[in-house]
Amino acid sequence: MTVTETPPHLNAADFAWQKDDVFGRIASRYDRLCDAFSFGIHRLWKQRVAERIASEEWDTLLDGATGTGDIILRVLEQPSTTGRTVIASDVSAKMLAIAEQRLQAHKGSVSLQLLDAENMPSVQSGSFDAYSISLGMKICNRRLAAQEAFRALKPGGRLIILEASNIPWTFVNRAYFLYMSICMPVLGWLATGGDASAYKYLLHGIRDFPSAEELALELESYGFEGVTFERLSLGIVAIHTARKPRVQQ
Ligand SMILES: C[S@@+](CC[C@H](N)C(=O)[O-])C[C@H]1O[C@@H](n2cnc3c(N)ncnc32)[C@H](O)[C@@H]1O
Repeated sequence: MTVTETPPHLNAADFAWQKDDVFGRIASRYDRLCDAFSFGIHRLWKQRVAERIASEEWDTLLDGATGTGDIILRVLEQPSTTGRTVIASDVSAKMLAIAEQRLQAHKGSVSLQLLDAENMPSVQSGSFDAYSISLGMKICNRRLAAQEAFRALKPGGRLIILEASNIPWTFVNRAYFLYMSICMPVLGWLATGGDASAYKYLLHGIRDFPSAEELALELESYGFEGVTFERLSLGIVAIHTARKPRVQQ
């Protein structure tokens, strides 16, 4: 895997895993940090996206930036996913080690792979029915990640993204960001024992990630069709779904 130079606007958090192993450092505390940063609301978002992923038609799913496996665990708990196969991937071996433990009960259905979502040479083109990525797009070069997802998908394959978004009422959105920029450093400092990276990336990622409408247009520009989105919690996050065309142009 090589370092990719990224125009900052395509990597909202301006994060490069090659330069900072922040997820390795916080892996054992990651799920508790999510609770702290979102006051537990991330559980509702993850449950909702897991249900959306499970409701799509697929036999093989590749999940990028899978983290501690929280979402894939919820996907595999859905009765409709019995007999389906998931590859849960991440660039952090420490996050994957936690995911492996958490997914033990489903080890016949899931395998774990160290993969950079921006560049997955070991993944054959057109080999997956569905690709999901949750809370990972804002810390990647999203053009590269979306293009790799597109390449990995079979024609007609489904894309599901959970990511930070915008509250459509500008005043409320500004107030939310102001609140986060005051509250998050305090919470983050306490929760990480002084490791500023985690909340620095999160804040930049939230601030500079495109709106739901803009992301939908971006996905179309990368070749996806049938793009839809659903805002959750007023638009703090959104779930985008899209399809790789059945017939390539
Ligand atoms: C915010 S966490 C999200 C984890 C999980 N999807 C969830 O929602 O709980 C982001 C994850 O992305 C991983 N990551 C960061 N850059 C990546 C990249 N280029 N390719 C794959 N994973 C990446 C990190 O190691 C981390 O586990």
